[in-house]
Amino acid sequence: MSNFTPAGSEPLDEEEVYKYLLDRINELEKRNTELREQSRQLEAEKRYGDTQKIRYEREIRKLKSEIEQLRSPPLIIAMITDVIDKNRVVVRSSAGPRFLVRTSQFIDQDSIKPGVRCTLNQQSLAIVDILPSSYDTQVHGMEIVQMPEERYEDIGGLEQQILEIKEAVELPLKRPELFDTIGIKPPKGVLLYGPPGTGKTLLARAVAHETSARFLRVIASELVQKYIGEGARLVRELFEMAKDKSPAIIFIDEIDAIGATRMDADTSGDREVQRTLMQLLAEMDGFDERGDVKIIGATNRIDILDRALLRPGRFDRIIEIPLPDVAGRLAIFKIHTRGMSIDEGVNLREIAQITDERNGADIRAICMEAGMFAIRAERAKVTSEDFLKAVKKLTVDYNKHQGTPSFGTMYA
Ligand SMILES: Nc1ncnc2c1ncn2[C@@H]1O[C@H](COP(=O)(O)OP(=O)(O)O)[C@@H](O)[C@H]1O
Ligand SMILES: [Mg+2]
Repeated sequence: MSNFTPAGSEPLDEEEVYKYLLDRINELEKRNTELREQSRQLEAEKRYGDTQKIRYEREIRKLKSEIEQLRSPPLIIAMITDVIDKNRVVVRSSAGPRFLVRTSQFIDQDSIKPGVRCTLNQQSLAIVDILPSSYDTQVHGMEIVQMPEERYEDIGGLEQQILEIKEAVELPLKRPELFDTIGIKPPKGVLLYGPPGTGKTLLARAVAHETSARFLRVIASELVQKYIGEGARLVRELFEMAKDKSPAIIFIDEIDAIGATRMDADTSGDREVQRTLMQLLAEMDGFDERGDVKIIGATNRIDILDRALLRPGRFDRIIEIPLPDVAGRLAIFKIHTRGMSIDEGVNLREIAQITDERNGADIRAICMEAGMFAIRAERAKVTSEDFLKAVKKLTVDYNKHQGTPSFGTMYA
């Protein structure tokens, strides 16, 4: 130890060396703690930096994807028709053709099923997103009425028909247990047929009123769409919606537009109509007659209707709505003059007698026209004369409109 000499100093004695080393150790230890503290601080800073970095990166990614979204071309809308496996799905694009496409792993597998609408990337045609099923706005030309205003007492004549429809639609909706007890199945659907303007729509609405059912009215020609499969989709959605909103009555008006006998369907338009009809048949077969959805169809042309529609389990009650006879016409005149101020001299029975071949819609028009004559003459009451003039006017108008079956149907 005695030869220990710090650089540039006199040799030190043992004591001094000892002190020197002690100081040095203390110094180094102090330095060590300092460095350790520094290192801790740096590490904390680094950690902070890392989280900051992650935050910024996330921000960048978000902005990038937003830019990408803004830049990306519009997506194709398609419907899934078949799911082959986890990765491959068959879709039909809204423009018609079918594709086998891949799906993104970000899409919930459970939501990928036939019938669901999705968007496709324009280039790869891969499924990008699943669209929510918003059929409420999708079912075109459909009228949904919570509960129609019309009642049975607004219908003139047709007593027998009202009775029949009560049995076939009202009873199963209101007292399904009666059918269970006896052990028969209530009819699923009722078809009303007869010339236009005779009160078919009126009757269907009245049933919905009496049963407090939701009334879904669709005019069959609206179901015939431009794109392949679109009509079938609308039919499916119509039934889905009815089940959703049950008790409900689906009323398919002018059903001959899709239900006409299938001839050789050689144009693609005809095939599309056929496909829509097939879907309707499938939906009718598919639902339970005990449920609280009933179907009413109406047509002026039962003669051209496809027999498949009339098979049991489909429209299994067929009710004719004929032109009103004289008693029916009188009843209808009474209904439509209910709110009118009528001269005592008016004999509605006589007017009913001279309006042979006229339908309910014509009678409504005659009443309205008679009222117009009274207004023009500035009278407070409608007279016999007004009615006769109205009958004559509408007959003349009717003849002018040769080929249209009935003048009154303009109001139907
Ligand atoms: N039997 C009837 N009783 C009372 N009004 C009728 C009758 N038939 C038709 N009408 C009147 O004519 C209008 C059109 O009838 P509508 O039910 O649409 O005929 P359809 O559906 O048979 O073509 C009805 O809103 C109603 O004012
Ligand atoms: Mg109608």
